[in-house]
Amino acid sequence: MAGRTRTTKKLAQRIDLNYFKRLYPIPRWRRILSVALVALGLVWLLFGREKPYNAGPLAHSHAMLGKNCAACHVSSTVFGKKVTDQACLACHDGPAHNAQQTFTPACTECHVEHQGSFKLAATRDESCTQCHADLKTKNGSTKFAAKVTSFDGGHPEFKIPKDPGTVKLNHEVHLKKDLRGMHGPVQLKCADCHKSSGAYMEPIDYQKACAECHPLVYDRRFEEPAPHKKPEVVVEYVTKKFTDYIAQHPEEVHMAEPADPRIMRPPIPPAKDAAEWISRRVEDTKQLLWRKSCKECHVETFKEGAALPEIPNAAIPARWMKSAWFDHDSHQMVACAECHAKTATSKETSDVLLPAIATCRRCHNSSADAADARCSECHFYHDWTKEKRPEGRSFDVLSGAIRQ
Ligand code: HEC
Ligand code: HEC
Ligand code: HEC
Ligand code: HEC
Ligand code: HEC
Ligand code: HEC
Ligand code: HEC
Ligand code: HEC
Ligand code: HEC
Ligand code: HEC
Repeated sequence: MAGRTRTTKKLAQRIDLNYFKRLYPIPRWRRILSVALVALGLVWLLFGREKPYNAGPLAHSHAMLGKNCAACHVSSTVFGKKVTDQACLACHDGPAHNAQQTFTPACTECHVEHQGSFKLAATRDESCTQCHADLKTKNGSTKFAAKVTSFDGGHPEFKIPKDPGTVKLNHEVHLKKDLRGMHGPVQLKCADCHKSSGAYMEPIDYQKACAECHPLVYDRRFEEPAPHKKPEVVVEYVTKKFTDYIAQHPEEVHMAEPADPRIMRPPIPPAKDAAEWISRRVEDTKQLLWRKSCKECHVETFKEGAALPEIPNAAIPARWMKSAWFDHDSHQMVACAECHAKTATSKETSDVLLPAIATCRRCHNSSADAADARCSECHFYHDWTKEKRPEGRSFDVLSGAIRQ
């Protein structure tokens, strides 16, 4: 039975000790391929055109495009092509900035996708300073600052225009304590005259802001004041009031008219008829209104030969700085006087009460917990007045509203 004896030695002789050192076809290929494919995969991931796993989340306002990658990656090989302006323009316009610009950057240079941005329109300063740090124009010159680099440092002082307003107002008088109101002394607040309609303050309105204390009363017979309208309209109105009155009180035609100290008119004997009575009352009213009431707030012009004075346009600006925008509602945490510091001591309409850049820099600066100081916070890039709406677009970009 010796032949069947399994000695360890014999067993050992049967074992091919070089088995694992030798490469057989299948394991050989397995090894080559495993190395090669990993390498290939790495090459593909690092250098290949297809990088779906590198793309970050879309901006919030584009999140609804979800898996519709082809909406922007317009080529057939989905990930292959650069995103062109045409892809963006299919859904919304991005009108050019300024007729004087020497070139037009691509949409994606400023609006950087796949960063999960909350506000794709909040662009980096480089988007602007690539031109504004050394501004070139088509016609070779500019009326604007040629070097703007950042809001904190390299930004010019605001150019504040002259006040074109013609209505007289003395802020100091109206803000003093114990101002004479219709029902005793009052302390006016800014908001008694100025109401914000979102971003800007509504234009001052005589009826809302002034009428209560400066009513256009003209005759002791009437409680209702004259309308605050053009002189023609005022004359027409008061003429009708006196005509109706004397028709109802014919006996008054024959009464002497007492003196009117408001216009320093002495007493006068009775009129000869209703027509004369009416014309005398209208004349008194004109004297009072043109020479006293309207004149308190308006600089009237009396043209030679003209029967009535002219009231100049009020021209109280609703917007002062046309190159930037501002929002009062976003600054409710700041007192009016912090930005409009000179108001309380201003006596003339021509005083300009707008803040200088230092006021804004207190909060808008590049320190970590400051308010946003990027150019896009205060400026438009696109000239939205030139917007062309792509056909079939069902939303309004600026308001974000969905149109039906
Ligand atoms: C709102 C438009 C938009 C949508 C939708 C969109 N992308 Fe993009 N994607 C871009 C922009 C812009 C770039 C920047 C590259 C460029 O400027 O061409 C970009 C770059 C990429 C890149 C890098 C490619 C390269 O050439 O650098 C990948 C990968 C990518 N996107 C994948 C996707 C995938 C996957 C989807 C769908 C889930 C998708 N994208 C949807 C706009 C979009
Ligand atoms: C398939 C249609 C579609 C395409 C393509 C598209 N967008 Fe939009 N985009 C929208 C819609 C819809 C909104 C409005 C979303 C809202 O109001 O919340 C929007 C909003 C925006 C906004 C403003 C929102 C914000 O977050 O500030 C910017 C900027 C913008 N898109 C830029 C681009 C750019 C750049 C491209 C090209 C890379 C592009 N879009 C491609 C549909 C599109
Ligand atoms: C030089 C930078 C720059 C370029 C280039 C640019 N944008 Fe803008 N875009 C902005 C800034 C800044 C805003 C925010 C202020 C504004 O509305 O002008 C904005 C706003 C927008 C808005 C949204 C407005 C809103 O508030 O909802 C859309 C949509 C938009 N851009 C589309 C485009 C398209 C499309 C292109 C390419 C044709 C483009 N943009 C090119 C800087 C740029
Ligand atoms: C491609 C170059 C270019 C880019 C990019 C650019 N601008 Fe301008 N910008 C101009 C030119 C040119 C003018 C006009 C100068 C003139 O009329 O003399 C101008 C004018 C302005 C003005 C003053 C006139 C006005 O329209 O009120 C402001 C403010 C302004 N740009 C802000 C910006 C902001 C903010 C950005 C970035 C979002 C930006 N610009 C990006 C070239 C550029
Ligand atoms: C709460 C009452 C009140 C309101 C409201 C008011 N005023 Fe007066 N206003 C006065 C009083 C009282 C004076 C006289 C103050 C004095 O001389 O001390 C006056 C004086 C004036 C004067 C002469 C100022 C001067 O320099 O002496 C003008 C002009 C004037 N108001 C314009 C206006 C205008 C415009 C409005 C509306 C935007 C307005 N007021 C609203 C009470 C008011
Ligand atoms: C207490 C000040 C005050 C008095 C008094 C006053 N106004 Fe005015 N007026 C204003 C203010 C403030 C405005 C601008 C806001 C508005 O139109 O309500 C204005 C605007 C006007 C306008 C419009 C001008 C334009 O921009 O086109 C006319 C017309 C006018 N007034 C006529 C008169 C006449 C006529 C009188 C006298 C009968 C008069 N006003 C008296 C304060 C006054
Ligand atoms: C953070 C600074 C700031 C604060 C706070 C502020 N304003 Fe203004 N205000 C401005 C700027 C900047 C403008 C110029 C806006 C423009 O371009 O017309 C302005 C303009 C105005 C105007 C001119 C009309 C207009 O809207 O342009 C009035 C009136 C005004 N402010 C009143 C007020 C009153 C009242 C308050 C308090 C309720 C107030 N402001 C608070 C900065 C401020
Ligand atoms: C906190 C708000 C704010 C920020 C941030 C801001 N600006 Fe301004 N900028 C203004 C105001 C306000 C004006 C004055 C506008 C006017 O007078 O019509 C102005 C004026 C300008 C002007 C016109 C200057 C002139 O000569 O009349 C240019 C150009 C300009 N800014 C570019 C920029 C650029 C580029 C950035 C970013 C680096 C920037 N701004 C950041 C508020 C801002
Ligand atoms: C009695 C009404 C009244 C009150 C109260 C009042 N204002 Fe005015 N304000 C006006 C009138 C009218 C104008 C337009 C005429 C002018 O430019 O002075 C004006 C203009 C302004 C302007 C425009 C810029 C400028 O230089 O003309 C600012 C800013 C302003 N007011 C701020 C204030 C602030 C801040 C307060 C509170 C501290 C205030 N106002 C209180 C009536 C008022
Ligand atoms: C006391 C701090 C403070 C001051 C001073 C201040 N801001 Fe702001 N501003 C803020 C804050 C905080 C926000 C963001 C508010 C928000 O998004 O609701 C803001 C937002 C803005 C915005 C964007 C508004 C919006 O609704 O998106 C503009 C434009 C702006 N500021 C301009 C100015 C200008 C111009 C001045 C100087 C006249 C100024 N700010 C002064 C704190 C300030």
